[in-house]
Amino acid sequence: MTILHIDSSIQAEGSISRALTATLVAAIADGSDEHVIHRDLTSEAPASVNPRAGDSAAADEFLAADVIVIGAPMYNLSVPSRLKAWLDSIAIPRKTFRYTDKGPEGLSGGRKVVVAYASGGFHHGPEEDFVDPYLRSFFRLLGIKDIDVVRAEGVNISGEHRARAIEAANVEIAGIVARIREERRQTVDA
Ligand SMILES: Cc1cc2nc3c(=O)[nH]c(=O)nc-3n(C[C@H](O)[C@H](O)[C@H](O)COP(=O)(O)O)c2cc1C
Repeated sequence: MTILHIDSSIQAEGSISRALTATLVAAIADGSDEHVIHRDLTSEAPASVNPRAGDSAAADEFLAADVIVIGAPMYNLSVPSRLKAWLDSIAIPRKTFRYTDKGPEGLSGGRKVVVAYASGGFHHGPEEDFVDPYLRSFFRLLGIKDIDVVRAEGVNISGEHRARAIEAANVEIAGIVARIREERRQTVDA
């Protein structure tokens, strides 16, 4: 199994999304020899892509992964610009999705996406949250139905809020990882 680990927080130290993606990747890999590729989008900018060229190393890397773990801090209600650039680099017509007369069709199904979302406050609903619904819509466009978003919210309100949010996120992570392990066990047994 190949895990693609994407981080996009501008904070190298003390980043909650980075801590959560690290926990997720370690728990999913579970000490085995899973192939993990880590891309820190703040130290390596995604290559600028001309989607019409139909070619992107980032899209190939994405398609080679079984599980994609993404750190997504909320920046000004949306995703960090480097993360948006990475998403742009994997949305390649006729490679990861295509348009048909019946609407868009995803070509990247069968993968799992787990997002670790962190926000300083609380933003819910279509007029305030352009992270969680956007990422779900984006990956559905590519054909991925198995999407989990772990939310650590309100982390800048107080130390207590931050601690509670991290604790709740870790409980969610434990549930997601247990499900992934169970699915893998069933695949191996089949
Ligand atoms: C440039 C910038 C913009 C931010 N915009 C928002 C925002 O719109 N809403 C919010 O709740 N928090 C916002 N925050 C707070 C971050 O979402 C919060 O600190 C989160 O923990 C960042 O993720 P990280 O801990 O992985 O770095 C912003 C932080 C930065 C640096």
